[in-house]
Amino acid sequence: MRPGARRGYRAVVRHDDKAERTAWRVTSGEPAPGEVERLLRLLPGWFGIESSVLEYVADARTRPAYQAWPGPRFQAAEPSGVLLAARHFPASAEIYLMAVDPAWHRRGAGRALVAALEADLIADGVEFLQVKTQGPARPDAGYTKTRQFYAGVGFQPLEEIYGLWPGLPCLIMIKSLRPGTSPSTDSHPGR
Ligand SMILES: CC(C)(COP(=O)(O)OP(=O)(O)OC[C@H]1O[C@@H](n2cnc3c(N)ncnc32)[C@H](O)[C@@H]1OP(=O)(O)O)[C@@H](O)C(=O)NCCC(=O)NCCS
Repeated sequence: MRPGARRGYRAVVRHDDKAERTAWRVTSGEPAPGEVERLLRLLPGWFGIESSVLEYVADARTRPAYQAWPGPRFQAAEPSGVLLAARHFPASAEIYLMAVDPAWHRRGAGRALVAALEADLIADGVEFLQVKTQGPARPDAGYTKTRQFYAGVGFQPLEEIYGLWPGLPCLIMIKSLRPGTSPSTDSHPGR
């Protein structure tokens, strides 16, 4: 896959249980290191290690970004969320980084970003998507929500490992993108 090769993807995510419905537009195709840095710095509870932030920002200079924009009535000048992906093998990919502005949490931006990535991956024949996040062996309220998010968009825990990140457990979560399995959300390009 070429993450981000498809531009102007639009995912509409509806929240029937919320008073306000948010239609997310997801764009992709260009690196966005400035937006990645801005969003990471809004999330010190998750991205509080300066060297790690700088590493992500350096990676973001060459990795195309998926960016989530709220509906036109918000007239947003900046995206509310970003996703970077990695492709390891022809049939497998990884969510490398996700960050949504805390002011927009739980309003569908993350789901729209994952759906846009999955649409590109499926079109390119990818069968498996993984993500690595902090494991439950180290209790943390923020990462508990992160794991709930990944479970909410269809990921299953595969294995909790040690040694990858100094002093922290790493939970590998996976999702099958094979036909017949559920995508993260319905997408409605062009709506
Ligand atoms: C994780 C993150 C990207 C999710 O983005 P988001 O826009 O808040 O998530 P969404 O609103 O799209 O949530 C989609 C679904 O995930 C689940 N979910 C999300 N947050 C949840 C929470 N706090 N508790 C329970 N379920 C949750 C729900 O099923 C939700 O669907 P619903 O709202 O229709 O019930 C965002 O919260 C974030 O930036 N977190 C901090 C950084 C981070 O954790 N990055 C990943 C590091 S590995």
